[in-house]
Amino acid sequence: MIITIPKGKLMDESIKAFENAGFDLSISESRKLRIKNGDNEIIIARAMDVPFYVESYADLGICGTDVIKERNCDVMMPLQLKFGKCRLSLCAPKKYKLKDLNGKKIATKYPNLTSKFFKSHGIDVKIVHLSGSIELAPVMGMADAIVDIVQTGETIRENGLIELKKIMDVSAALIVNRLSYKLKFDEIRRIMDNMEVFNYEYE
Ligand code: PRP
Repeated sequence: MIITIPKGKLMDESIKAFENAGFDLSISESRKLRIKNGDNEIIIARAMDVPFYVESYADLGICGTDVIKERNCDVMMPLQLKFGKCRLSLCAPKKYKLKDLNGKKIATKYPNLTSKFFKSHGIDVKIVHLSGSIELAPVMGMADAIVDIVQTGETIRENGLIELKKIMDVSAALIVNRLSYKLKFDEIRRIMDNMEVFNYEYE
């Protein structure tokens, strides 16, 4: 099996999930991003790129449901996992209501979801596409509001923003390459069953 692990916040739980599903993921201190391990191959990718690798090369991967929607890749998502829970929200300084954002600049790592959200509300905005530390953009006067992940709410609070509107609930999910799902169904089914048991630990 070729599996894709996301770097960053979901990495440790994703490794645990695959280990609970029977994989030996002895990812050492090495900085190697592609590790061959017996019959298995492990790819360590940027979280935002996991759907891309699963669509084109790997059998399986774990990433956030936010990323799956943003990247809009042709992969299957047969199992939602119970870690990585947070939300994607529109956050802004307290003075703004949603309709005040017409014509304003919105900083985000999620240009597609942001554009879809504002279009669905009939609001025209300019999207400022950044790669991280999104909360910095309004502080620096580079954007008026942001669309970003909120987990504890600490980062927005500390940077003078409030959560104006939740766009979607987010959690980690198992994604599967379409062809692999057909050709390796029995093995993938077994992995899913084991991950489902692992899911109960998060109840
Ligand atoms: C995420 C997100 C927020 C923060 C939210 O950033 O983009 O900045 O976590 O968490 P909180 O509500 O618990 O404060 P991450 O650390 O993944 O890095 P990034 O800023 O590079 O995206």
